[in-house]
Amino acid sequence: MTGKFIVIEGLEGAGKSSVIDVVKRVVTDRGYTCINTREPGGTPMAEAIRECVKHEWQESVSEETELMLMYAARRQLLVNVIQPALAKGHWVIGDRHDLSSLAYQGGGRQIDADKLDALRQLCLQGFRPDLTLYLDVDPAEGLKRARGRGELDRIEKSGLGFFERTRERYLQLANSDDRVHTVDAMQPMNKVHETVRKTIEAYLS
Ligand SMILES: Nc1ncnc2c1ncn2[C@@H]1O[C@H](COP(=O)(O)OP(=O)(O)OP(=O)(O)O)[C@@H](O)[C@H]1O
Ligand SMILES: [Mg+2]
Repeated sequence: MTGKFIVIEGLEGAGKSSVIDVVKRVVTDRGYTCINTREPGGTPMAEAIRECVKHEWQESVSEETELMLMYAARRQLLVNVIQPALAKGHWVIGDRHDLSSLAYQGGGRQIDADKLDALRQLCLQGFRPDLTLYLDVDPAEGLKRARGRGELDRIEKSGLGFFERTRERYLQLANSDDRVHTVDAMQPMNKVHETVRKTIEAYLS
């Protein structure tokens, strides 16, 4: 049996990191082996691309460059880590995947859907997650939480308007796809975790 790919999505500070631990616990309790991934990143080359994407360059970074770097990193992770793990029957829990590019580069940076689709086809060739949990948070609250953790990186400094467009696109995409569940991440953390646990348990049974 092949494994399942579960992805956690949401803006900075939505609470993805702690939710991933909850998902992992539920899945491993059922006896499945599971690995974690993060995007961009998760292989040596993809981690180097992550650093590159977040770095504050002394030159302007074009939206198309940012987009292509995201998909280059995703391709490395898919081919070297995600697909081999799934083929072995392992479960993969992803901190972000393709929905992030659709929301950030498509919604936030307003890149045309046809440009995105061409890259998605090249990178993913129809591959998609089995289940995605989108943690929905107000951008101002998310950035406040993220700031509590330390300095903001290049993308996190994109401004509130950018994150409002990104959230709007996330919500549109989540509402139009049965495999994406929206979780209200404005709730206290214990409530968010309870909702996530129930959603994963329902998916497993
Ligand atoms: N529901 C919540 N209520 C209040 N604080 C929260 C909630 N969820 C997470 N936090 C806190 O907000 C901060 C950011 O959370 P976390 O790092 O999990 O977000 P993230 O989605 O992984 O962000 P990033 O995309 O930047 O990695 C942490 O300090 C965390 O404890
Ligand atoms: Mg995180």
